[in-house]
Amino acid sequence: MKKLLAALLFVGIGGLHAQENIEIEKKVTALLNQMTLEEKIGQMNQYNGFWNVTGPSPKSGNAAFKYNNLASGRVGSMLNIRGAKEVRKVQEIAVEESRLGIPLIIGFDLIHGYKTVSPIPLAETASWDLAAIERSAALGAREAAAAGINWTFAPMVDITRDARWGRVMEGAGEDPYLGSLVAAARVRGFQGDDLSDPFTIAACAKHFAAYGFAEAGRDYNTVDIGLNTLHNIVLPPFKAAADAGVRTFMNSFNDLNGIPATADRYLQRDILKGNWQFDGFVVSDWGSLREMIDHGYAKDRKHAGELALNGGSDMDMESYIYLEYIQSLLAEGKVTQEQIDDAVRRILRVKFELGLFDDPYRYCDESREKSVTGSKEIIDAALDMAKKSIVLLKNDNQILPLKKQGQKIALIGPLADDKNSPLGNWRIAADNGTAISVLEGMQAYKGNTLVHEQGVRLVDKIPAGFHEEVAINNTDNSGIAAAVAAAQNADIVVMALGEYGFQSGEGRSRAHLDLPGFQQELLEAVYAVNKNIVLVVMSGRPLILNWADAHLPAIVEAWQLGTQAGNAIAQVLYGDYNPSGKLPMSFPRAVGQLPLYYNHKSTGRPGADGEDAGSVFWSHYGDEKNSPLYPFGYGLSYTQFTYSDIRLSSNSLKKGGQLIAEVDVTNSGSLTGKEVVQLYLKDHYASATRPVRELKGFELIELKAGETQTVRFTIDEQLLAFYNAAGQWTAEAGDFSLFIGTDATTKRQVNFVLE
Ligand code: BGC
Repeated sequence: MKKLLAALLFVGIGGLHAQENIEIEKKVTALLNQMTLEEKIGQMNQYNGFWNVTGPSPKSGNAAFKYNNLASGRVGSMLNIRGAKEVRKVQEIAVEESRLGIPLIIGFDLIHGYKTVSPIPLAETASWDLAAIERSAALGAREAAAAGINWTFAPMVDITRDARWGRVMEGAGEDPYLGSLVAAARVRGFQGDDLSDPFTIAACAKHFAAYGFAEAGRDYNTVDIGLNTLHNIVLPPFKAAADAGVRTFMNSFNDLNGIPATADRYLQRDILKGNWQFDGFVVSDWGSLREMIDHGYAKDRKHAGELALNGGSDMDMESYIYLEYIQSLLAEGKVTQEQIDDAVRRILRVKFELGLFDDPYRYCDESREKSVTGSKEIIDAALDMAKKSIVLLKNDNQILPLKKQGQKIALIGPLADDKNSPLGNWRIAADNGTAISVLEGMQAYKGNTLVHEQGVRLVDKIPAGFHEEVAINNTDNSGIAAAVAAAQNADIVVMALGEYGFQSGEGRSRAHLDLPGFQQELLEAVYAVNKNIVLVVMSGRPLILNWADAHLPAIVEAWQLGTQAGNAIAQVLYGDYNPSGKLPMSFPRAVGQLPLYYNHKSTGRPGADGEDAGSVFWSHYGDEKNSPLYPFGYGLSYTQFTYSDIRLSSNSLKKGGQLIAEVDVTNSGSLTGKEVVQLYLKDHYASATRPVRELKGFELIELKAGETQTVRFTIDEQLLAFYNAAGQWTAEAGDFSLFIGTDATTKRQVNFVLE
């Protein structure tokens, strides 16, 4: 202890890290020197455990055990092996039977919780509460680490502008500024500040890059975007993850501007490992090496291996191509020894940092697994996060919060007592049916009479595994009559409608974004007899809610909130939690508007305020508005907030200087509530066109009724910087506007000049 203290005093914490790094580098070099070429290639190979197949699976069974691959050091990592006992089994083979005993790194898609499921990442982002998001990731990591896992394939930091894409549920929505902060928070949560702490795990920023820009929102589709969008919109969250110290990256399935990302040197070698000096490793996506043949980029498997390694992919997930071909590619001079050594060095470095060489079984303690899994702390945090993720979209005549006494409430809809859908997709380790349903949540409030009717079934066949297609019920609407009867006698109807839990996620693109199956018919039938409807939308993405918005007094977006969903929803409906979420994605009025995002460019014919129907020849639709139904940043509270005018310290900003923008926010309602005060900036002209406005700051504040708080933002050159026409990240002199308000449409504006 004395020695440690002395060391701390002498070198300081940063210095100690640097020293540890030197130690680790020495150990990596020593190990590399002992390794045969075959053992090196083994480190670059990752196998699936075949418990949960998260992609198209080869028929051959568990390749890790075949041909004695684990024992002969031909496997560097496995994914989807889980449970302290199971992980120990494979780790024992790697450590005790292979020549050098190099431990495996065990990967898993810890996307939103492990056994205890937290809200889907899109929902968590709606909280705009970075501390809560970080904590949620940390507790997920704690549960997963206790089950043998030491590496998550998260966070997904893909910017998503198209709600048709099923994977919008996994990300942080459409905005690169918010997305960057959330990316960093999640990385900090998973990794903590010490990777060798057995309660933390390595994170992975994915999918590098631009996977979220799949054309027409169809998963795995082609991406073709320019450098302007790539650098200003797509890359910032990846950079933020790298700056937060993320230890791994995953590349993506898509072809980006003609090059499959798996082989993209510009992305992986020039930007990531070059400019950003990232010293962790890059894993391919599932089978993405071999998919380069289907892309029409690689001639055959061997060529795919050559392209991938040259492109900067360090580890091959589930293509087995490195294992098969690197040796001959090296002999033929198609790849170099330096590339192989560099890839292996990166992988070993992370394994050393995780402490796997000190104790390969540090994640394999069954008694820890028992005590950590589903602990009160983790469940409470999941509930807290779920409440914070809910967004109140409409609340006319203050129909919400519900009164707690003397009401007859009818709870209707296929999702009302669904204990599975709230878990959403990517909840691999959770047991089916373990979410608290809305019905259970509402039953906890005993002062009212509660009747429940399903109305219609959402799916015909509950899929056994999450890789099956979801069969939506389009044939049986016979339950509507009973639902209507229940609604007729009720004071208030709460309707739980939306998407089945596996309708979003990977491979789950949708061409229609309305309520699936007979739900709209059910909603309208109920509305015909009772207009006091509170619609609770449970979905993995923005849905089109035009009819509901036009007719219903109250709408609550409750996403897929995880294990504690029903409790969170009931507590919000009854006002025990005052909703504070804000949308991280624009909600469209029509599929034809997609992709839809607030930070779009102006065009040469923007119209007046984007909605001028005065003539034909401006950028618009003849049959729909340009604007979303609910904009980015939008969300109501049970209380109201009023904003003062903006005070700006000066209307000119000198290079190297600062401006202070201030606003007074008052809770003018009668309940304590939270508000996300948002700052947007507009750069009026530049060497490359700029968005109509961009989020550049926000603050989540809580105010008591009647209370006022001054919120201050500092504006400096760095905040105005962007990737310009010359390919530089810089701020250009000129005119700017600054907006502060409650969502992306705020008109409260001041102007300034950057000199
Ligand atoms: C997904 C990745 C995931 C991987 C492993 C792929 O299909 O695109 O996001 O991490 O499978 O499960």
